[in-house]
Amino acid sequence: MGILEGKVAIITGAGRGIGRSHALLFAREGARIIVNDPGCKRDGSDAGDTADEVVKEIITAGGEAIACKYAVGSTESAEQIIQTAIHAYGRIDVLVNNAGILNDRTLLNMTDEEWDTVINVHLRGSFTCLRAAARVMKEQETGGRIINTSSSSGLLGNFGQANYGAAKAGIYALSRIAAMELAKHKICVNAIAPVAMTRMMEDLPQSQSVKLAGGLNPETISPVVAFLASDSAAGISGMTFGIEGRHLFIYRMMTSHGAHSFEEEGWTASEIGKRIDQIAHW
Ligand SMILES: NC(=O)c1ccc[n+]([C@@H]2O[C@H](COP(=O)([O-])OP(=O)(O)OC[C@H]3O[C@@H](n4cnc5c(N)ncnc54)[C@H](O)[C@@H]3O)[C@@H](O)[C@H]2O)c1
Repeated sequence: MGILEGKVAIITGAGRGIGRSHALLFAREGARIIVNDPGCKRDGSDAGDTADEVVKEIITAGGEAIACKYAVGSTESAEQIIQTAIHAYGRIDVLVNNAGILNDRTLLNMTDEEWDTVINVHLRGSFTCLRAAARVMKEQETGGRIINTSSSSGLLGNFGQANYGAAKAGIYALSRIAAMELAKHKICVNAIAPVAMTRMMEDLPQSQSVKLAGGLNPETISPVVAFLASDSAAGISGMTFGIEGRHLFIYRMMTSHGAHSFEEEGWTASEIGKRIDQIAHW
C-alpha cells in the first residue's frame, strides 16, 4: 500500500518538470491526481496539452488522474481547479502549488508586465489555490496538506530575478502564516525550495553547477513532497525544505545577535554608525 493511498491531490503545473514528477510519484503512492497545467511556454505564453500526456502516463501505469487546464493566478481559476477535484473525486486532501514561469530581467530594465505576470502566477496563484483548497479542507474536517514551492532565488537572492525572487520570498511568508492560521483545522502548510534540471533552469548560469552535480533529475525532488503530503508528516508545518540532490535541509529567516543602545532614548544615527559592525554581527 502506498503512503498516499486514498488521498486526492491537486498538483498545479504538473504537465512537465518537477510537477510532472510529483504527479507520477503521488499516483504510484496511491493518490488520485488532478493534473493541472495549461501547458505554457517558460514565460507563461501559449498553451499546449502536457496535462493530458501526464494523465495518460498515470492511467497506463494503473493509477487514477484527470487533467485540468486552468491557468493559476486568479480566484476564478482556483475555484475551477478545486471544483474539478470535487466533481471528479468528491474531496481534496492535498494541494501542491508548483506552477511557475520566468520572465528574467535586471531591475532597471524590467517592465511592469514582466513583474506582474510572474508575481501573478507564483504568489497570487499560490494564495488563491491555497485559500480555495483550505476552505474545502476545513469543511471536510479531516485536515489536509498544502505544499508550496519557493526558491533559493527568493530566500537568498539571484541576479536578474527580482520579480521571481520577490514572489518566492512571498511564498515563504505565505507558507509560515498559513501554517499558523490553519493549524486549528489540522491543515499543515509547508514549502520546498528545489533545484532540478528542467526547462526553467536549462539555460540559466546556475545550470552549469547543476550539470556538474550530476544533472539533478526532477525525480530527486518529489519524495520530500510525497512525505509532506502523507499522514507521517502530521504536525510538520510552517517549514521550508531545501532539496538539492541528496542534500535535504531547512531554510529559516534569522536575525543577527544585534546590540542594545547605550543611550536612554534609544538609538541615535551617530551611535548606529559607530556600532554597525556589532549590530550586524552573527
Ligand atoms: N527547476 C529548478 O531548479 C527550480 C528551482 C527553484 C524553484 N523551482 C520551482 O519549481 C516549480 C516547477 O518548476 P520546473 O522547474 O518544473 O519548471 P517547468 O517550466 O519545467 O514547469 C513549470 C510548469 O508550470 C506550468 N505553468 C506555468 N504557468 C502556469 C499557470 N498559470 N497555471 C498552471 N500551470 C502553469 C507550465 O506549463 C509547466 O508545465 C516552479 O514553481 C519553479 O519556480 C524550480
